[in-house]
Amino acid sequence: MSDNRVALVTGASRGIGAAIAERFAADGWDLTISSRGREALEQRAGELTERGAGRVEVIPADMTDPEAVEALAAGHAEAFGRTDALVINAGMGQKGAVADLPVRRFDRLYQVNVRAPYILLQSLIPTLRTTAEAHGTAKVIAVASITGVYPEPELSAYGATKAALISLCETFNLEESANGVSATTIAPGYVDTDMSDWLKDEIPGDEMITVGDVATIAHSVTQLSRYAVLPNVILTRPGSNLHRA
Ligand SMILES: NC(=O)c1ccc[n+]([C@@H]2O[C@H](COP(=O)([O-])OP(=O)(O)OC[C@H]3O[C@@H](n4cnc5c(N)ncnc54)[C@H](OP(=O)(O)O)[C@@H]3O)[C@@H](O)[C@H]2O)c1
Repeated sequence: MSDNRVALVTGASRGIGAAIAERFAADGWDLTISSRGREALEQRAGELTERGAGRVEVIPADMTDPEAVEALAAGHAEAFGRTDALVINAGMGQKGAVADLPVRRFDRLYQVNVRAPYILLQSLIPTLRTTAEAHGTAKVIAVASITGVYPEPELSAYGATKAALISLCETFNLEESANGVSATTIAPGYVDTDMSDWLKDEIPGDEMITVGDVATIAHSVTQLSRYAVLPNVILTRPGSNLHRA
């Protein structure tokens, strides 16, 4: 069995998840990468190997499907038997005022942004605990959003799911941190990815937080010992609207 550190990264096909996977690959980690489409993941796996990753497993899963999320966790645990970092990054956005946004859209957001993270956390507790026991610590890194901390008009449903994710991880820390397993949520403002394309007429992509910025925080979390719990990191954009996405 290899001595490499091991991460599961969801939403790794592009954007923030791809950048985090690349940062871990450069340190020689073994990786399970997931998102919906196998083809994009296979291509990403090749790139990660070129950048220095050890073994890379590809496990596609749609986060709206609870059985697929369970199968992802089981497949990862079976492949590696070790999880130094669980990166819960796959997520979706949705804009609309409470007066207008249909409940079915809220349900889908909740499935992807809250239910799937809950399933992953629950299913992977055994491997996170055994990794912490054998290697000192195991980290959960969940990508939330600044709207989960500071509400924003028309992002009510999205913000509510991210606030729920932050709360879930805070409680997880109360329950698991004594076992050496702790969670950090990262709550960025607008990041230059496909997800923020709709806004780029107003805020150019090159004035947004970069995927590299978020990857740097994620990577730093993996350097912390079991004695340092970092609950939430807020990344804001510069200017007078610090508490705005
Ligand atoms: N961009 C921003 O401004 C911003 C700001 C704050 C927080 N965030 C959060 O950052 C995280 C990553 O977003 P991003 O900006 O990197 O977005 P992105 O470029 O659109 O990437 C989203 C990733 O999630 C995957 N994904 C989407 N829906 C999925 C589903 N139902 N099942 C499985 N995988 C799914 C996508 O892969 P497939 O489409 O191939 O499945 C892709 O890999 C999200 O949680 C988002 O809420 C983003």
